Amino acid sequence: MKTYHIKTYGCQMNYSDSERMETYLQALGLSPCKDYKTADLIIFNTCSIRQKAEDRVFSEIYKVEQLKKKKKDLLVVVTGCMIRKSSSRYSTERDALFPRMAALDIALRIDELPSLASLMREIQPALDIEAIEEESLEDYFQINASHSSHEAKTQAFVAISNGCDKFCTYCIVPYSRGREKSRKMEDIIAECEKLVEIGVKEITLIGQTVNSYGLGKADEESGKFANLKEKEPFVALLEKLDLLHEKGLERVRFTSPHPQDMSDQLIEAMAVLKTQMPYLHLPVQSGDNRTLKRMNRTYTIEQYREIIKKLRAKIPDISISTDIIVGFCGETDEEFEKTLKFYEEMAFEHAYIAQYSQRRGTTADRFMKDDIPQKVKKQRWHKLNFLLVKMAERGYKRFLNKTVNVLVENQNGKTCMGRSEHFKAVQFNSGRKLLGQIVPVKITRAREILLEGELV
Ligand code: SAH
Ligand code: SF4
Ligand code: F3S
Repeated sequence: MKTYHIKTYGCQMNYSDSERMETYLQALGLSPCKDYKTADLIIFNTCSIRQKAEDRVFSEIYKVEQLKKKKKDLLVVVTGCMIRKSSSRYSTERDALFPRMAALDIALRIDELPSLASLMREIQPALDIEAIEEESLEDYFQINASHSSHEAKTQAFVAISNGCDKFCTYCIVPYSRGREKSRKMEDIIAECEKLVEIGVKEITLIGQTVNSYGLGKADEESGKFANLKEKEPFVALLEKLDLLHEKGLERVRFTSPHPQDMSDQLIEAMAVLKTQMPYLHLPVQSGDNRTLKRMNRTYTIEQYREIIKKLRAKIPDISISTDIIVGFCGETDEEFEKTLKFYEEMAFEHAYIAQYSQRRGTTADRFMKDDIPQKVKKQRWHKLNFLLVKMAERGYKRFLNKTVNVLVENQNGKTCMGRSEHFKAVQFNSGRKLLGQIVPVKITRAREILLEGELV
């Protein structure tokens, strides 16, 4: 039997896509292989969000090039966000990557996954793989994720949409993943039901702008969600998932939402649904209106502030984290200072801070100047990170001497690790087998990125 090895980079969406690929490859009769050196097929599921992410992929592919010199029939596939269009080594429409990667046989855009088998046969006609009917797969979302990486079977990621219509000027995603398309609600529910049946307690819904589920242009045109007149599709989905609480689903999280679609309906749902948690990751990107405008973020800081105010009014102890880009085109010292101030004002408890990295083909690349020197980007990153650490500490300390509910995701001997409802990592000891259970833990110590406590 032929074997495959998948190397995954980037965000949860890519990890979820890799699980979809596993299902597909196993249906072709291939089996997984832990060591890439012995696999017959190596797949790189790439990320393109920053130059660093691409560089990492290129250096790994270089190693495989060396391997391929010895192993002539090794098949190398590159997919994920570095690919704009599917093609094989023999296609006339060669992707720009081919000249840069001698080892590459197939470039595959992830939503074209159903055509992988035929591309593989094009390269190796004698390849012994099962036949799969491409036409039977309307879109790649119909291939279910294998969920093989959730060995503990306590928590799982479920993709609900792919692509993005927002076109932030710095971002590659609308180009790499294409237009936003939502998965059918019945399919999502069916997948979640199965997960709950095998004991999954926490489900994280994922999408590029997860809360615009069902609102993208393509979804509107298809009329897929026309029956939901008053209710937003995302809220309807959260309500349906909440019904699975009776069957054992305890927690539903989602990432990443976009501020534009943080409606009152959604905030209300977060406050009242049993499976909703007091935690939200809501990317703001900058605390300055002019910068937000240049980024084509479709809200002002006043509107963002209003959302947070409403959330805190309904869910008083909610924990909020964010994403911020420093050193975007034209960002002045004054604009950056506003981001620092806003960060403090919003009392974010965590953030992913990125230094702006120009991406080929984006609006910022075509019409703006990447004019902030590397040194300044770095300085701003450190300055904001300093604040982040200070604020994060405060976010952890507020749980000292309190009892929090922890979903145990990992148990090594007596050491149990899990997350609280507020998404804080918690560690404690227990002689009992607690994997997959939600247990009360009294917090006795707040470390920099960890809470420690005792089972109550
Ligand atoms: N859809 C999400 C973000 C997805 S990308 C949203 O709209 O918030 C994840 C994060 O990568 C972004 O939030 C942003 O902070 C960062 N990012 C995206 N493009 C970038 C670029 N060109 N340079 C630096 N950081 C970038
Ligand atoms: Fe990128 Fe903006 Fe879409 Fe997020 S909303 S994926 S940052 S274009
Ligand atoms: Fe990277 Fe694509 Fe995710 S660019 S961050 S893998 S959506």
